[in-house]
Amino acid sequence: MNDRPNILGLHFGHDGAVCVLRNGEIAGYVLRERINRTKHALGVSDAEIDKALSDAAIAPGDIDRIAITSTQGVELLVGLLEDFEVSLEPHPDDTAPSTLRDALRLDPARIEPLQKFSVGPCLSGAVDGFGRTLYESVFPEGIDFDWDRFAAVGWLDNYASAREWSPELGLDALGSRAARQDEHLRHGFHLPVSVRWRGRSLPGCFVQHHMAHAAACYYRSGFDAAAVLTHDGFLSGTGYHSGLNLYGEGHRLWPVSPNHLTLGMAYNFAAEMVGLGLVHGAGKLMGLAPYGQPVFFDSRFVGNEIDIRRQFDSDLWTAWSDHCRKEAMARGYDISALGDPARVTEAVNADIAASTQKLFEETYLKAVRSLDRMLSGGGIRTDNLCLSGGTALNCPSNSRIWREGPYENVFIEPTCDDGGLAIGAALHLHHNLLDQPRPSDDGFATPYLGGCCDEEMVETTLKAAQGITWETPPNAAEAAAQDLLADKVIAWFEGGSEAGPRALGHRSILADVRSADNWLRVNKVKGREPWRPFAPVVLAEKAADWFDGCPMPSPYMLFTATVKGSDLPAITHVDGSSRIQTVDERCGGIRQILEAFDRQTGVPVLLNTSFNGPGEPIVETPTHAVAFLQNSDIDVVYIEGRRAVRDGAA
Ligand SMILES: [Fe+2]
Repeated sequence: MNDRPNILGLHFGHDGAVCVLRNGEIAGYVLRERINRTKHALGVSDAEIDKALSDAAIAPGDIDRIAITSTQGVELLVGLLEDFEVSLEPHPDDTAPSTLRDALRLDPARIEPLQKFSVGPCLSGAVDGFGRTLYESVFPEGIDFDWDRFAAVGWLDNYASAREWSPELGLDALGSRAARQDEHLRHGFHLPVSVRWRGRSLPGCFVQHHMAHAAACYYRSGFDAAAVLTHDGFLSGTGYHSGLNLYGEGHRLWPVSPNHLTLGMAYNFAAEMVGLGLVHGAGKLMGLAPYGQPVFFDSRFVGNEIDIRRQFDSDLWTAWSDHCRKEAMARGYDISALGDPARVTEAVNADIAASTQKLFEETYLKAVRSLDRMLSGGGIRTDNLCLSGGTALNCPSNSRIWREGPYENVFIEPTCDDGGLAIGAALHLHHNLLDQPRPSDDGFATPYLGGCCDEEMVETTLKAAQGITWETPPNAAEAAAQDLLADKVIAWFEGGSEAGPRALGHRSILADVRSADNWLRVNKVKGREPWRPFAPVVLAEKAADWFDGCPMPSPYMLFTATVKGSDLPAITHVDGSSRIQTVDERCGGIRQILEAFDRQTGVPVLLNTSFNGPGEPIVETPTHAVAFLQNSDIDVVYIEGRRAVRDGAA
């Protein structure tokens, strides 16, 4: 086996993905939704694995180890894969330490009750409720499966047990506990297994969900050491399944406590309560909040699961939704609008959104301060914080943590949602378990991890397309800037696609930011609700002239800034905020477009939104890009330097 093994990282939950780690570097990455075109698609198939291997220029026989993670409770749907079997016995060649394996050796009968299944029981009708709604959305093909015959391996949810983590504690009490760098815990969040794959038996490794989130963030942060906080939605805060506090130093990453947060779940359910939907509503709620006032906020709701149960004898969501409903009625709001998708911006919905956003920010800040106190109590000092898990997509919260929290530097990687777990599982195995040193990096966790398309594919696609005219301008970025100056809405398709949910200049729709009309116009092109805001791209070195209130540079659109002045109406939200992406030379042609636009207008800013239609994943291939041009009102689409319009358009 190689000293620095090639690792295949697999994530089987929603936002299923494949990562190929070659020599510690991400050489291939494929998000399943970009291939099968189901947003947040669950599972992994051979198509994603083959593409990731091909992008990495690695043959299956070159893979040395496999790291596997999942969403909590979601089984591994190995029936989607050819010749892929998992044995819960460790591989004989695997000598990496594992606290869990050691514990199970003492009591092997425990492993069976630890296995959990969720997708099959929900989609086969054995279990109903929220799980079924979610899985029907992200794994629609499973509705027709014969689940009695479909091959799956139960996921394991329980890993290390730590005496000091029981009883479960509120945020204040957690903060008063001294953190320890405990090797029992560092080696306690994975299970060594054996994987038979494509004719070979390989050492495999199940990696706990939040360990993978933490690894995906910390190992890509460029920090030598950092505090790390992870938290997701839709999970109970008991145990450590909804989030972990960790500390990383060098190549080692220690879990130091669960955080018992249930904030993500409350936020998701609030989105449903105001009519934005349960599965995809959280991002919309963040955009709705500035339309309202946080009049329902009450500091009694700030805390983790333990705090809330002590205060209300209830979970956070039940207590918070009851409170909002009662307060709204007592204050005379028009309750008939509550949860009506057609009236989502009316006062009751907007004020619940604003209040939930404030609750989110205050709770997150308290959790970060609790983590800092815990580390300080253990004699650990660092200026750096990493955030991961889906809740780290909340841009206003991230900026408040940076402005008001105890850490000078805050890093969030662009795949902080579950799409990054395949990366995190592989990095955890490589660094934390196999003790491989971290390569030097410049702190830029490139989001452009998708595979590129070759020239032949682009030309073939364009030549075959009906109803479009295309050309190759001598300078595509200059031509794009001229189109923007002529107030056209354009799409820019270039190189590897963005990993993560935000388009960052390789699969982007762009428009002139100076025109207020473009807010409505681009929402119409994308088929989105007219009230939803847009984000800007800005030249990194000029960003501070136009925005403040967030860290600079801010290359992944994960922090909210305050817009200076009134010259950028298309991207200035109603509260004067905007979630910016700063652009440098590592972002590709989008930088040349911004430079050309700036030369002509003195404005180094453009409206930027993801290149996709309503409910669709971001476009991946030239075929998807051409289809968007054919089926929408967009004016121009640039594909790898070619300028395409519908027949008869300029
Ligand atoms: Fe997650």
